[in-house]
Amino acid sequence: MSWIRENTLNWLQLLAVKILKSGCVPKHVAFIMDGNRRYANRNGVKKIDGHSKGFDKLTETLQWCLELGIPEVTVYAFSIENFKRSEEEVNCLMDLARQKFQNLLDEREKLMEHGVCIRVIGNLSITPKDVQKLMAEAMLLTKDNNRAFLNVAFSYTSRDEITHAVKDVVKGVERADILAEDISENLISECLYTNHSPEPDLLIRTSGEIRFSDFLLWQTTSSCIYFTKVLWPEFSVWDLLAAVFYYQRCHLDMEAVKQTSQSLYVRNNNNRLVSFVNELQKDRESMLKKMSLGLAHS
Ligand code: FPP
Ligand code: MG
Repeated sequence: MSWIRENTLNWLQLLAVKILKSGCVPKHVAFIMDGNRRYANRNGVKKIDGHSKGFDKLTETLQWCLELGIPEVTVYAFSIENFKRSEEEVNCLMDLARQKFQNLLDEREKLMEHGVCIRVIGNLSITPKDVQKLMAEAMLLTKDNNRAFLNVAFSYTSRDEITHAVKDVVKGVERADILAEDISENLISECLYTNHSPEPDLLIRTSGEIRFSDFLLWQTTSSCIYFTKVLWPEFSVWDLLAAVFYYQRCHLDMEAVKQTSQSLYVRNNNNRLVSFVNELQKDRESMLKKMSLGLAHS
């Protein structure tokens, strides 16, 4: 299954898309793709087939997002908590990631032609080395693309992400690259894995669970949150359109909140901070290069 699909919408769905596009469309949508195993259970198939269906649904959803004019999507593909699942399931999920990232690299021309930038956000050091290598290759290959952005949260939790950001800040203070009084919300945001992305406008969680499961906790304080009972493999374009319609109704209130929080951020734009953040990015890119060559330690 290709990561980039052709349009499969019928005329009625295209009409609904067109109507929604006349309103405000979110620029960044995040998904907690939940319910793969319940789907497998209900359909009498193996858990991994549920996850595999989940991947197919992801590619379909990405196509719908493009049709809607949503340029950035972030998906929760594997939480650090998921390492606690049975060895068999974790291995199957790693196999799926291995296979899909290999496919992604195999269709590099298509990715480049569509200008898709792939970013894996998460703790790559705890991801199996061969998967880590494929992910690093995909990120380096597509890093300058800027028409569509797909952030895949893998070996990710927010608490882990924030802990790493704080450690980077502490290192900066210890080395006297920055001062303790430079520490601000803005600086922490710049040190997160998501530092290249705007905050999600809309977060969608499927399967009826009403919780965040440690996903983008820092980034979603002013996002519109949409919960739906549908299991992820059964998510349809109508479910996506319903979520966007919900977003359109709450978007005006959210804009007011965002403006207040952004105005708190502007203060810390000094040269010391800019060069600290640039160096951090360079270090992360050189780590990615090592990973892509299979030279990084797990
Ligand atoms: C949650 O459903 C889903 C996951 C833990 C895995 C999600 C992964 C994919 C959709 C495939 C994406 C793969 C790549 C390579 C991007 P669950 O297992 O918690 O199901 P349940 O809630 O019914 O138990
Ligand atoms: Mg679940």
